Amino acid sequence: MSLRLGDIAPDFTAETTEGIVHFHQWIEGRWAVLFSHPKDFTPVCTTELGKVAKIKSEFDKRGVKIIGISVDSLQSHKEWIKDINETQHATMNYPLIADPQRIVAMKYDMLDVYSPDNLTARSVFVIGPDKKIKLMITYPASTGRNFEEILRAIDSVQLTANYSVATPADWKNGEDCIIVPSVKDEEIKAKFPKGHNRLKPYLRTTPQPNI
Ligand code: BEZ
Repeated sequence: MSLRLGDIAPDFTAETTEGIVHFHQWIEGRWAVLFSHPKDFTPVCTTELGKVAKIKSEFDKRGVKIIGISVDSLQSHKEWIKDINETQHATMNYPLIADPQRIVAMKYDMLDVYSPDNLTARSVFVIGPDKKIKLMITYPASTGRNFEEILRAIDSVQLTANYSVATPADWKNGEDCIIVPSVKDEEIKAKFPKGHNRLKPYLRTTPQPNI
């Protein structure tokens, strides 16, 4: 059965470029992103891994640990990283899981079963400190991900977890948020001291609470 939002992220133990990872232990009560790549030594993946290395401090700032996965061997990953660093002007600074048996890929339903070699799609799982899946995205192999969008989505799910707000269409960090429907009108004043705007009983906005 495929994974759903709110499910506990499946645990696994795997070899990575930074040693053996026991996934639940590795999360250690923080936020985490697990993102998959179809194959080593492929062009789009090379740019993606380099991009994430260059913006890792943005994940760190948000308290998010990041880990990649590709269905090739550890030795292959180690060779490929040299190319990533060279061509993307990056220094790989997060672990990449070796999953030649597709054990992790199958647990997370990452395989693009229609791809010729049963490769992984470009899946992203954002996992909360409670180890539950907060967000899932799947792109085809040919479409490189926009990591600014992934950071934006992390900002949104963290705001929901910490402040009971949602974010509207095209929201960007710093813009007004939406008070989640489960907050009653009479609770708003105490919960949102920056003020609020009640456009409709179901549409109540407030300045972003954490800035
Ligand atoms: C790539 O990373 O460029 C790629 C990988 C598999 C299929 C197509 C593109």
